[in-house]
Amino acid sequence: MPSDGKLRLGVNIDHVATVRNARGGAYPDPLRAAKLAEEAGADGITAHLREDRRHISDADIDGLMEVLTVPLNFEMAATAEMQAIALRHKPHAVCLVPEKREERTTEGGLEVAREENRLAHYIAPLREAGCRVSIFIAADKRQIEAAHRIGAEVIELHTGAYCDAHAEGDVDTRDRELEGLREMSAYAHALGLEVHAGHGLTYDTVQPVAAFPEVMELNIGHFLIGESIFLGLGPAITEMRRLMDEARDG
Ligand code: PXP
Repeated sequence: MPSDGKLRLGVNIDHVATVRNARGGAYPDPLRAAKLAEEAGADGITAHLREDRRHISDADIDGLMEVLTVPLNFEMAATAEMQAIALRHKPHAVCLVPEKREERTTEGGLEVAREENRLAHYIAPLREAGCRVSIFIAADKRQIEAAHRIGAEVIELHTGAYCDAHAEGDVDTRDRELEGLREMSAYAHALGLEVHAGHGLTYDTVQPVAAFPEVMELNIGHFLIGESIFLGLGPAITEMRRLMDEARDG
């Protein structure tokens, strides 16, 4: 997504595909959700093609590349198979995430520091193909510096620990996690990285993160898809957008 200073919202549609796949049919259709999200003001669509194809399928990615007018943020593990798929499609952005088969969701950030050499080689052709490479990492100086050294343009900070602490009512941990996110957003920005954030964000947790001036984009999925059962997808997104703008302007 281009950098125009406004806080952008990327809507992750993975869990529309999760519901579809629960019955193995064609609905609900993630492409329809993506178009609706666009109409409701999403600045981009995020989709994670997992190695086990548990939600988004290869055909969904083909379809998204065809129908979207906003940028696609293609989330993937740093494997040879995914690199080939990304190079075929050349999405606007590629976000590298760690992936474990047994996890329910992306549990932690990518270990960049220990895999610096391999990842530097891995992302080079993606960058040459014109994809903005983003790395999903914990709010940790070592990982941020490594992401910067390998040539990533963007980091996405994992907000899961902050959101979990909030949900558990553990105020000390929540505040500590939030402070870490704040400091590391500023640190990464000062290095010249574009800063995104996401994972587990809800109406209750989005505003403190949206208020960080260095954060340019939030990627939000599970809560929005869940909320759309009650409000509809468009209104659920509109409310998230409103809260983000309020936090940013306030
Ligand atoms: N950003 C990244 C890199 C993710 O892996 C995910 C989850 O797929 C999200 C954002 C969105 O998280 P959630 O679905 O919890 O809002």
